Amino acid sequence: MNAYNNKQPLLSVEGLGVSYGALKALEGVSFSVNKGEVLGIIGPNGAGKSTCYNATTHMVSRSGKVWIGDQEVTDIPAHKLAALGLRRAFQQNMFFADFTILENMLAVLQRSHGSPLYETILRPYFAWRKACIAREKAREALLRMGIPSIYHDVYPSQIPYGTQRTLSIALANADGADILLLDEPAAGLGGEDMQALIRLIESLRDEGMALVVIEHHMDLIMSVADKIVVLDQGRMIASGTPDKIRNMPEVVEAYLGRAA
Ligand SMILES: Nc1ncnc2c1ncn2[C@@H]1O[C@H](COP(=O)(O)OP(=O)(O)OP(=O)(O)O)[C@@H](O)[C@H]1O
Ligand SMILES: [Mg+2]
Repeated sequence: MNAYNNKQPLLSVEGLGVSYGALKALEGVSFSVNKGEVLGIIGPNGAGKSTCYNATTHMVSRSGKVWIGDQEVTDIPAHKLAALGLRRAFQQNMFFADFTILENMLAVLQRSHGSPLYETILRPYFAWRKACIAREKAREALLRMGIPSIYHDVYPSQIPYGTQRTLSIALANADGADILLLDEPAAGLGGEDMQALIRLIESLRDEGMALVVIEHHMDLIMSVADKIVVLDQGRMIASGTPDKIRNMPEVVEAYLGRAA
C-alpha cells in the first residue's frame, strides 16, 4: 500500500471506445488512477489493453473523455500530452539502434534541451555548455531508472534484455512523467529482473507518480497494483482490488483460467 491517502485522480478516462471497422476493440472503458497509485490492466490477448493506451493517449480516433487532473484533455493531440505529464511506454522495445543508450535518452530529452542551429554556429560556447548539461541530465535520467553508467555508451543491442525493458521505461519517463503507462514491462523477464522491475515501479509510485501497468504476469500485477481493471473483448468485465479480482469467478473464467 502506498503513502498517498488523499485521493487525487491524476488520470481519468470515461467511456472510451475504439472501433476498427466492424470490430469494437474497446467499448465503455472507464477508470481513474490517483497520485502515488498503481492501476493494473489485465486481460487475454486481443482484449483491448494496448488499444486502451492508444485511446487514452489519443493515438487513435475514439469516443469517450480523458482528463489529466481536472483538465479535460480529450481533444488535445497525442504529441502534446507528454508536456502535460502523460507518457507511455510501448509493448515492443523501440530504440534508435545506431545511437548509444545515452544518445537515445538525449534524443528524447532534445525537445527541452536541444540547441537551435544558429546557436551552434554563432554561439559555440553556449551550445557546448548546453550539450554538457543535456548529457548530464540524460545520465541522471538513466541512473534514476537503475541503468548503470557502464551501459550508457554502448548500443541497445549490447545491453541485457532486462535492461532493454528498463530502457523502454526510462525513455518513456524521460525527464519525469506524472502519469506513466507501461505496456507489458515484464514481458520476457526472469526472476531477478522481475524483482528489479517491481522495485522500480514501487519507487516511482512512492515518489507520487500515477502508474498504469498492463501485464500478463499475475504475480507482478497482484503485488504492485492498488486496483485492477479486467478487460475481455474490449469491455471491462471487472474492476477492484487485487484480492477482489483474484476471487471473481468470471475473471478466473475469462482470464486467469485460460492463461494458467
Ligand atoms: N490498428 C488496428 N487495426 C485493426 N485492428 C486492430 C488494430 N489494433 C488492434 N486491433 C485489434 O483490436 C483488438 C485489441 O487489440 P489490442 O492490441 O489492444 O489487444 P491487447 O489486449 O493489447 O492484446 P495483447 O495481450 O496480445 O497485447 C484485437 O482484436 C486486435 O486484433
Ligand atoms: Mg497489447
